Order: sequence, then C-alpha cells, then structure tokens
Amino acid sequence: MCGIFAYLGEKTNAGELILQGLTSLEYRGYDSWGVAIKKENSKLHVEKHPGKIGEATFPPFTASSGIGHTRWATHGGVTAANAHPHVSCNDEVVLVHNGIVENFEELKQNLQKAGHHFKSETDSEVIAHLLEEEMKNETDLKEVVLRVFRMLTGMSAIIVFFPGTNQFFAIKNGSPLVYSGTQSEQILASDAVALIPYTNNVFFLPDYELLEMNPHGARLYDETGTEKSLKTVTLEIDKSQVEKGAFAHFMIKEIHEQAAIVKQLTKKTDQIQNLATAIQKSNRFYFVGCGSAYYAALCGEYLFSKIAKIHANSSFGSEFSYHLDFIDNTSTVMAVSQSGETIDIISGLQKAREKGAHIMALVNVLGSTLYRTADSSFLLGAGPEKAVCSTKAFVAQITAIFLLAHTMAHTVDKGTKDLFNAAREITSILEREKSIQELAEKIVKSKNIFVLGRGISYPGALESALKIKEVCYIHAEGFAGGELKHGVIALIEKGTPVIIYNPEDETYEDSLSSAYEVKARGAYVIGISSKPNPVFDAYIEVKNCGEATIIPNVVIAQLLGYYLALAKNLDPDKPRNLAKSVTVK
Ligand code: AGP
Repeated sequence: MCGIFAYLGEKTNAGELILQGLTSLEYRGYDSWGVAIKKENSKLHVEKHPGKIGEATFPPFTASSGIGHTRWATHGGVTAANAHPHVSCNDEVVLVHNGIVENFEELKQNLQKAGHHFKSETDSEVIAHLLEEEMKNETDLKEVVLRVFRMLTGMSAIIVFFPGTNQFFAIKNGSPLVYSGTQSEQILASDAVALIPYTNNVFFLPDYELLEMNPHGARLYDETGTEKSLKTVTLEIDKSQVEKGAFAHFMIKEIHEQAAIVKQLTKKTDQIQNLATAIQKSNRFYFVGCGSAYYAALCGEYLFSKIAKIHANSSFGSEFSYHLDFIDNTSTVMAVSQSGETIDIISGLQKAREKGAHIMALVNVLGSTLYRTADSSFLLGAGPEKAVCSTKAFVAQITAIFLLAHTMAHTVDKGTKDLFNAAREITSILEREKSIQELAEKIVKSKNIFVLGRGISYPGALESALKIKEVCYIHAEGFAGGELKHGVIALIEKGTPVIIYNPEDETYEDSLSSAYEVKARGAYVIGISSKPNPVFDAYIEVKNCGEATIIPNVVIAQLLGYYLALAKNLDPDKPRNLAKSVTVK
C-alpha cells in the first residue's frame, strides 16, 4: 500500500531526499506520487504526478522540510490531482494519508457548506480541510490533530505538515508509521526500510498515539494529549539487505537467500518451543493468512496433521470473520503474514480476540501491527522482502511451521535434517537455474499453466500457480491432483503445460496417474520428482527431503515465474496492480 516519507533536518535538498525515500518504498506498490517542500522563502512547492517515479528528479529548491507519498488508488482515479500530498485552502496544512476515511462523503458535504473548495475526488483530502477548519477553534496543533483524527471512521495513518511552524504530526490506527531521529535530521515513514540509510534506531508508532516532530526534536502523546516517553528499537537490518547488490531484481536476490534462511531458522527452536507449548494448551487451532501466507497456513494443516497428529484449520484472512463462531477462549489463532500489516487478518483477529482466543503472529517485520498486538509472536528473520511477490518470506513461514510441527512431535532432529536436505536441494536447483529459464522461454506463449499436487503438494501447487501468474500475468491454476477429473481436465489442450509435483511420498503413484491423464489429452507434462518417468516431457530432479520437499519444489515455481516475467519483458519486482502489503479491505 501507499508509501510515506517526511524529512526535517539540516540538509537543504529535502525534495531530493524525500524522492529517494519514496523510491525505497516503491516495492509497496503505487500508481501516482507527490512531494511537498517548504522553500527558503517559506512558500510551499508541490509536485504531483500519475505513474511511477522512474528517473524523475526534484527541482533544486533549497528546502529542509517536506513530505512525500506514493499512492495506491482507492477513492478517485490515478491523476495528479488525486495524488497526495493534499493541501488546505489556505496552504497552512499539508497532508498525506494511508487508509480509507469511511465517513468522508458526510464530512466533505459539511466542509463544502463551510466554503471549502476541493481539488480532488479522494477521501483523504477531507482531512486537510477538517484540520484547517479545526484550527479556527484551537491554536494547539496537537489538539487540532487529535480532535480531527477522532472524527474519522475507518483505519488510517496520517502525517500532517504545518509549514508555518515546521511541525509534523503523525497518528494512525492501521497502517504503520515509523520515526527516527538523529542529531542532524528526523524522518517519518510508513516502513522502517526507508529509514535504514539514516539509522537503525527506530520508533514504531502505536495506534492512537500522536508523535510530534519539530525542529527541537520529537514528542509523543497519548490519545488524551498527555506526553509520554518514546522508546526506540534497533533494527537488525543492514543496508545491503535493502539493495539489489549484484542481482538484477529483488525477486531473484530473495530467491537466492532462501537456503541460508531455512538453515538459520533451525537455530530458533527455543522460540518455536514457546509457541508449541502455547498451542498444546489450546483445544482448537487456526491458521489465518492471505495470498502466499494463506498457502503456507494450508501447508500447516497438512504438516500439523502428518507430523504432530494435531488438527488445525486454516482460513483466508478475509473469510475468517465469517466462520470464526467456533472460536472461544480455548482456541489459538496463528496469523501468518510477511508484513504483519494485512488488514484482512488484523480485522478478523480483532473478533477472535474479543472471543478470548490466544493470538499468535508468525511475521517478518519487527514492530508491525500483528507483531506488536499478538499475545505471542515469532519473527521469521528473513530480512526485508522488497519484491512485491513473496518468496523468502513464504519459505520462512513454511520452515517455521514445519519446525513447529516437529517440535510438538518431539522429532526436531529429524525435522532439522530434512530442512538441511531441503536447503541443499534449493542450492542444487539454483545451480540449474539456466535450465529453468530455458523451460520458461519454451512455455511463455501458453494461455494457461496448471500446477497439480496432492497432499502437502496441493498447497504447494496453489502457491506455485500464484507465483507464476502474479509476476508474468499468464493464467496459472493450482489444484488438487484428484480434482483433475472433476472439471479442470476440460481445460487441458495440446501443449498445455502441466507441472506435476511427484514427491516420493504417499501421493507418488496417484500423482503419476494424473500425469498420464493430462498427457493423454496432449498436455506438456513438467515432472518435479526424485525419479524420472517416461510420462514427463520435462523433468526437474528434486531429491527426497521428507515433508520438507515442498520447499525446494516451490523454489522451482518461483524461478519459473521470474524467468517467465523476464521473457515477457516485465518487471518481476513490481507487478501491475499489486501492493506489497494490503492495508485496505
Ligand atoms: C505474495 O506473492 C502476494 N504478493 C500476496 O499474496 C501476499 O502474500 C499477501 O498479500 C499477504 O501479505 P502478508 O504476508 O504481508 O500478510
């Protein structure tokens, strides 16, 4: 979702610094951008553009304060006028916003009656005019911001810049806001990744608390306006983790980090034991996730059953609130999420919490909403994932859940051995990367690609299809092998690529039968197995790693998706219409 970056400091190229900050947030997905700075003559200069930042530069005005935003359109089209920042009628208020103001129509009508002129179709602009109106009744700007924020319904994160006094105020009840301050400069941003070039000591703003940033430093207030102390945390992230380095794209770089991440997680068994202990005290267990994280959750159902003999249910975040009536105070709900900010999960968990459930978070971002608000959290430690599509975070999620299942079964040694074998297989696959690129170039003209898996390979097939379609825009569908005969087989035509996950487990023979069924209808069968077979038109070897075989299997699909995108001259890091963290419903 939208990116925010605000600067206040000694440097005098604030416009350029803000643009650089927004560029580091591009991976979140956006379709327009804007920057407002306070020039030396105290006048505002605002640049707003539809489209990507690309090679844009900022006019070389001398400025030491300003704010910028990358917008992922919700209310109002992709236009310069709808881009943020939004400015009040009297130019005294500059606002950027993440989220949705659900009651904006009513507020807008009242403001228009009071004489305010709107320049955009957005819900966000309403906030700028509300602040201007409230300033007529109150001179204390923190009071003004607190009052206006209470008028908004929905989940929002706002940063207000008052250029007249060079004050910034930040407050939120949804998308994250992060602050950092050094002797010479202060930054406010929507994601800690943007702060890494400045410092590793950051402050994650809790919901409904108000942070004031002014030339003398920062102050924190609770929702009544009472000052409170501000405690920073130190991010274990270095600059190399937020740059592409020698890789052409973040996606391929993050794919190459996975073997190390899998092995690194095997050292976290103490923290995993804490989760296992809590789970074993509960009567019912639910996984909740969205997109790739949901497929990791669905894998979890199979892993818990097969390894730990524990029943687990999994649900899409967006569906969870419709069927959580079973939940009670003996239930445990584990949110699986890379960003820790996915609104579909956060809102469903709120209802589960109200029913007394124990809330767990398996996330990759320190300080994220899910990480901070869960009863127990586990940090995946996969490092910043900057490609919009999830690869290393997904593999880290599966690995952590796999270790959790073995911990509850008291078979951690076997689990660790399987994971080291899986890491070895990832390395082996990466050594054969060229052959996967050639396979991608062979099937790039396909209309459809199908991925077929049984047992734990079924969620693996779903994730594989998502990886392919979201970066190369070819329709790809994952399905349970046994479902082939119940409809999907009607779509198989001559030359249709069908990826068959055929691991050496209890699904081995049945998956081969499905391979023969699609082959008989002309499919181009891509077999992924520890053993070759004459039914495979293309064969990619993955040695057996027990239930952990799913991990290297999915890496093949990640590489296939990546090279299909390149074959179509697409940017695999920033697929169209997608955002890295979906913080609006
Ligand atoms: C992953 O490739 C997708 N971009 C998307 O489905 C993602 O997994 C989903 O939006 C959940 O995000 P989260 O893990 O940050 O909660």
